[in-house]
Amino acid sequence: MNEIGRIQERLRRLEEEALAELRASRGAVKIQAVRTKYIGRKGLLTNFLREMGQLPVEERPALGQLANQLKAALEEATEQVLEKEHQRQRADQLLHAGVDISLPGRRPSLGSTHLITQVTEEIISIFQRLGFEVSEGPEVELDYYNFEALNFPKDHPARDMQDTFYFSPNVVLRTHTSPVQVRTMEKRQPPLRVIAPGRVYRHDSDPTHSPMFHQVEGFVVDHEITFADLKGTLTFFVHQFFGPNVQMRFRPSFFPFTEPSAEVDIQCVICQGKGCPVCKKSGWLEILGSGMIDPEVFHFVGYDPEVFTGFAFGLGVERIAMLQVGLSDIRIFFENNLQFLKQF
Ligand code: PHE
Repeated sequence: MNEIGRIQERLRRLEEEALAELRASRGAVKIQAVRTKYIGRKGLLTNFLREMGQLPVEERPALGQLANQLKAALEEATEQVLEKEHQRQRADQLLHAGVDISLPGRRPSLGSTHLITQVTEEIISIFQRLGFEVSEGPEVELDYYNFEALNFPKDHPARDMQDTFYFSPNVVLRTHTSPVQVRTMEKRQPPLRVIAPGRVYRHDSDPTHSPMFHQVEGFVVDHEITFADLKGTLTFFVHQFFGPNVQMRFRPSFFPFTEPSAEVDIQCVICQGKGCPVCKKSGWLEILGSGMIDPEVFHFVGYDPEVFTGFAFGLGVERIAMLQVGLSDIRIFFENNLQFLKQF
């Protein structure tokens, strides 16, 4: 082994020794003392280098480099050992204060969207693919938009079906999303293709009726819109949402603001049409109301019914969500029961 090789070997041993001593030390003072012992101004490394003074001039740069490497390595090791020491002390303090930092932490629980929100979004996305835009209206609504302009005259018996909460004789909690039709038509001209989700309120409360529930309104107004457009649009929706093999039917109905009117039933998803308690043995479930917009409504918003025609529909979101996951009591949606809600 040449001279430099021997020196290298001695430096390596010095480093090993120093590291072992550092790691075995407890307390910041002791650790700093070990550092000084090796790489302080009068430390072992300095002594060692002085002894090497006799080395030939051309060997000295290589030696200097080795010495610097060793110094850097020991500085870093000192930092690490000091940091560990600090952590240990901190943990000791906490333990004394009654805190056990080795216990796993508590994860904050993550929320998620409510089933009603998920179903609403799914409905909206299907109509968006057909070019519908999304719009919203107020939940506290004028009697004019909720009833009057939708062709429910004052004292008309059709109002009884939608008994609601009154703030004053002219201000109500809306009973359906249909007022958005009037508000939109009042402000804009056709063509209109709009979907309007939101909360609605009725004086109702039993296993299948909640005083607050959700609807998605949809309407189209343009030249030459016909009942065939209504049927095509709603058939597309039902097949997208419930699957292409689900049977559906249009059943004549009445709404003051549509003429003719139809309700849409789908084959009972629980019994596949055989008849069960959910479909009251009929094999069918009602999911929405619809119809051609009544010319009376066009008069209220200043459209000429000779020029424009349109159709509208209103879907009950809870009803659809209940069918989708097989529930028989609507009230479970609004009881804040996490065991139920977390399933979706
Ligand atoms: N607004 C009606 C309801 O809540 C549903 C509906 C909407 C019917 C649009 C026809 C057209 O019962």
